[in-house]
Amino acid sequence: MKILTLAVMLVISTAVAAQTKAQTTTEVKKAVAVELKGDAAAGAGKVAVCMACHGEKGRMPNSPIYPRLAGQSSEYLKSSLHAYRDGLRQGGMAAMMSPQTATLSDQDIVDIAAYYSQQ
Ligand code: HEC
Repeated sequence: MKILTLAVMLVISTAVAAQTKAQTTTEVKKAVAVELKGDAAAGAGKVAVCMACHGEKGRMPNSPIYPRLAGQSSEYLKSSLHAYRDGLRQGGMAAMMSPQTATLSDQDIVDIAAYYSQQ
């Protein structure tokens, strides 16, 4: 009985340790994401494919179904791109956007957000 109790305690403490480690990793990742600075010039080199729908500089979408990106706040653009990439923004025409973001890194996202916010 004592051995069983010990075994259960060991399993629980291992699980708690693993969870604590996971939380710490998440917190570190969040802290890093917050620190990333967008570089609009770098962003300009990452939007060639986006122009096909959103138009040059995101100003003149090629069809009314594509939203204008120029001048939107960088925070909003960043949050939208993360949401498409991470599958949190769905429905509507999000199915068209999600594949566009699949290969974007966190740095690509802040650079692109900086670029469109300044057009
Ligand atoms: C095939 C056409 C197409 C391409 C290419 C495309 N988009 Fe989009 N984009 C859309 C559509 C359609 C929507 C609206 C999706 C919805 O309903 O959520 C959208 C929405 C967005 C939004 C959200 C705007 C808002 O007002 O909420 C952002 C930001 C965005 N696109 C950025 C980009 C970036 C950056 C790229 C290039 C990496 C890109 N898009 C490439 C079609 C496209």
